[in-house]
Amino acid sequence: MKDRRDRIETVLESLLPPPSVAPIRLHEAMRYAVLGGGKRVRPLLAYAAGEAAGAALDRVDRAAAAVELIHAYSLVHDDLPSMDNDVLRRGQPTVHIKFDEATALLVGDALQSLAFEVLTDATLADQPRDQIAMLATLARASGSRGMAGGQAVDLASQGKPLSVSELEFMHVHKTGALIACSVSLGAACGTLSADELRGALHFARFTGLAFQVVDDVLDATESTQTLGKTAGKDAAGSKPTYVSAMGVDRAREYAAELLEDALSGLAPLGARGQRLAELGRYIVSRNS
Ligand code: IPE
Ligand code: IPE
Ligand code: MG
Ligand code: MG
Ligand code: MG
Repeated sequence: MKDRRDRIETVLESLLPPPSVAPIRLHEAMRYAVLGGGKRVRPLLAYAAGEAAGAALDRVDRAAAAVELIHAYSLVHDDLPSMDNDVLRRGQPTVHIKFDEATALLVGDALQSLAFEVLTDATLADQPRDQIAMLATLARASGSRGMAGGQAVDLASQGKPLSVSELEFMHVHKTGALIACSVSLGAACGTLSADELRGALHFARFTGLAFQVVDDVLDATESTQTLGKTAGKDAAGSKPTYVSAMGVDRAREYAAELLEDALSGLAPLGARGQRLAELGRYIVSRNS
């Protein structure tokens, strides 16, 4: 994990515009939003899927970076006063606090564009049509049928109790889609059989939901210091979560059940699925 985290840091550093280039303040804010923090779970998943698929590492670098850039943009917008109104992220003031709201909007816009640029300006697949399919995968996972759609449901649900199936819809979209996309893009840089790919995507779908169930649990159980973001925000903002729906203990159990189901998908990959399995376990057992 350390090796891959160091690697993605260098890749992101080199893909982001230098702070010396105009517009300086926007580029500084983009770098502030992306560099030097975060668990890098999505890049780690992309690398693990790429490894399982025998992909060239320099291709996976770009797939991993593209998803992390979309994720970083989603965090900047998620923290805005009109959304979750958070002042702390990755242990530092959020972008709109450190800079200003308009800059935070533009940081999100620009990071999203950069993510797609990163997937287009180098060869990532032997066949151009396969690379176009990667762009479509990222677009769908980020847009109204993916992350942005899940965020819309999240905002519309504030103060309303949701059924577990409504919660699942929200979580699968706002968080699951990009997690699944990480595995999908990593795998697309190499080659998996149809069976292996189906298994990897099964793993990714269940892990994606488990990721947000655990995020809900941690919001209720860990400290601001440990999380690097304000603890207890979901209850304070009357957000429907797996914790509000079923309580902390049951939500934890549910995440463990989702992990077991996720891991079953890795069977066709055999030993090549080991890193993905390790990341699945990390996602459910982490404390931040
Ligand atoms: C936080 O994601 C937002 C969610 C989708 C739950 P992470 O927990 O991956 O945040 P970082 O990247 O490690 O800061
Ligand atoms: C955010 O969910 C999901 C995103 C798409 C950013 P949360 O609002 O629960 O994420 P945190 O807890 O602020 O990181
Ligand atoms: Mg939110
Ligand atoms: Mg939030
Ligand atoms: Mg949360």
